[in-house]
Amino acid sequence: MFKASRLGSVAMICVLMLMAGCGKQSADAPILIKFPHVTAPATPKGQAAERFRQLVEERLAGRVLVEVYPSAQLMSDDDSLDALAFGEVQMIAVSLSKLDRLTYKFQIFDLPFLFPDIQTVENFQASDYGQELLTSMVDRKILGLSFWHNGMKQFGGPVPMRLPEAAKGLKFRIMESDVLQAQILQIGGNPQKMAFGEVYQALQTGAVDAQENTWSNIYSSKFYEVQAYVTETNHGYLGYLVAVNLDFWNSLPDDIRTELASIVQEVSIWANKQSVSINLLGRQKILESGRTEVVELTADERAIWQQAMRPVWEKFSSNIGADLIAAAESYGNQAE
Ligand code: LMR
Repeated sequence: MFKASRLGSVAMICVLMLMAGCGKQSADAPILIKFPHVTAPATPKGQAAERFRQLVEERLAGRVLVEVYPSAQLMSDDDSLDALAFGEVQMIAVSLSKLDRLTYKFQIFDLPFLFPDIQTVENFQASDYGQELLTSMVDRKILGLSFWHNGMKQFGGPVPMRLPEAAKGLKFRIMESDVLQAQILQIGGNPQKMAFGEVYQALQTGAVDAQENTWSNIYSSKFYEVQAYVTETNHGYLGYLVAVNLDFWNSLPDDIRTELASIVQEVSIWANKQSVSINLLGRQKILESGRTEVVELTADERAIWQQAMRPVWEKFSSNIGADLIAAAESYGNQAE
């Protein structure tokens, strides 16, 4: 009897200790940052996310744990915007084009031929105009910490696209952006908004004929295997907003928040340099594959493209603000 009740109390003490242990363990458990994205690990964004994970592991060991989910294995970009707003994931790096459904402000990055090159984009993003964009969605609980580049976009399709006429009647996959939709309509194409993870199959089955993306995405997602031509238009920019859930960010201990912010800045500098070489490598690999023909435009052909797409600027000028467009353009003029 004594033995039995003693055993009972020992068991109870064990249960209480276990419960206390469990409680302690969760109090000491590292803060989790779930970071889903849609591109392959070898892309500019894939490399940047992995570098961020590694630096956090080194500098905040045991305090913060980053879980990176590449290649849309956890969710699409569209879903990740909702998941971030609701705090189901803590960090994302979504293409600026896809912020279109939340605010008009980022539409500036989709205006065709506004930015002649990545350096110009970088100058604009570093300006007061660019930095203000980081906080433009805090009312939706989305706080931008930085911009990461991918690169300039090219057109891939069943025909060489030396001139805009070649795009007439083709079904183009585009990101979820009204500016990109207008851009394709402007050249007589048929735009189809579609998640990144569906593009390869859509090209393969003929659900779409053409697409626009960077060399690194065309290479890593193998779009070049299912397209006869890639025309090097460099007509638009593809880059990302690195964003966190606002409440999550504000709830962090000060020293952790400061360290994470500094890691993001360090990674941004590293990754934005890398993005250029990753895209050049993708282009090179595509050339070497012999699976698709790369078409280079003459300066005159490019000027015709530029002129054909220019009316898109006017269409979105009131959304974006003529002053912002003028400011962005002035960075372009400085680069020339
Ligand atoms: C796309 O959907 O084409 C891009 O947003 C993919 C990416 O994240 O680079």
